Amino acid sequence: DLYNLRHIGVATKVHGVIGKPISHSKSPHLYNAAFKSVGFDGVYLPLLVDNVSDFLNTYSSPDFVGYSYTIPHKLDGLRCCDEVDPIAKAIGAISCMVKRPNDGKLIGYNVDYLGAIAAIEEQLKDSNGRSKSGSRSPLYGKLFVVMGAGGAGKALAYGGKEKGARVVVANRTYAKAKDLATKVGGEAIPLSELEKFHPEEGMILANATSVGMKPKVDDTPIPEEALKHYSLVFDAVYTPKLTRLLREAQEAGAAIVYGTEMFINQAFVQFERFTNLPAPKQLMRDVLARYT
Ligand code: ATR
Repeated sequence: DLYNLRHIGVATKVHGVIGKPISHSKSPHLYNAAFKSVGFDGVYLPLLVDNVSDFLNTYSSPDFVGYSYTIPHKLDGLRCCDEVDPIAKAIGAISCMVKRPNDGKLIGYNVDYLGAIAAIEEQLKDSNGRSKSGSRSPLYGKLFVVMGAGGAGKALAYGGKEKGARVVVANRTYAKAKDLATKVGGEAIPLSELEKFHPEEGMILANATSVGMKPKVDDTPIPEEALKHYSLVFDAVYTPKLTRLLREAQEAGAAIVYGTEMFINQAFVQFERFTNLPAPKQLMRDVLARYT
C-alpha cells in the first residue's frame, strides 16, 4: 500500500514531487513509508507537471501543503514562491516548497546543499571525535575547496560559508569561479591550477563538477598527487558510488563522503520541513536501499 490509502481522510496533508519525467522517482516510496512510520497524517504523490504556475493555481486548496522540486522545475519553482529563503535565492533554484499554515503563502527553500554539508559534518565529527567541536560546525574555520560553480557548486559554496568555512572556488571557467567567490566572500582559482594550491594541510575538498560521472568513470577533476593535502573529500557525483576521485582520495589517506549521502541527507531535512518531526533515518535509508 504505497500511498497508505486506508489512512487518508479529510485532514490528510497532501505532498508531492513536481517534475517531468517523474515516474522514476523513488520519493513517493520514501516519504509515504516515513510518514506512516512516525504516524504523520500525510500522503506524498508523484506529480507530472508541465507548467508549475498553472499547477499551483489549480491545486491551491489548503490540504496541498508541501512539494519537492526536481528536474526541470527547480528554477520555475523559485519564480512561483511567495517568499524565497535567502540561500535558495542566491543559488537561483529551490528544492522544496512549503505552504505556511497561518497565511497560506508558499515558501521556497533549497535544502540540497544542507544534505551535502550535513554529510561532510558527520564525517568530520566521526574523524575528530564527537566532543571536540561543541555547538560550532566542524567546518568552522576550515579551508573548504569547492570544484565547480554551477548549481551544485553554488549550493556547496554557500553552505560552506554558512558554516564558517573559508571557501575557495575552483572552476574550469575562471570567470564563474570569480563571480561565485565574490558572492560568498571567498577565493577563486582556475581548476587547472588547483593541483598547485596547498596553503595548508588537512583541507576539505568537494567535487561539484560532473567530472567522473558515468559513463566517463576514468575521468577525475584533480590529479591524484594533490589529494594528499586534503583530510576529507566529498564527491557530489554518485553514479558510480565510488568515483575515481574518491578511490584516489581514500588511497591518499583522506576520509571520503559519497554523493549518495547528499541525497539521503537532503531527504531527512525535507521530511523535517514537511512534518516538523525528526526524520526516521534508518527506515528512510532502508527504503531507499530497497528501491535503488
Ligand atoms: P550542476 O547544476 O550539476 O552544478 P552545471 O550547472 O551544468 O551542473 O555545472 C557543471 C559544472 O561542472 C560547472 O562548474 C562546469 O564547469 P564550467 O563552468 O567551466 O562549465 C563543470 N564541468 C563540466 N564538465 C567539466 C569538465 N570536463 N572539466 C571541468 N569542469 C567541468
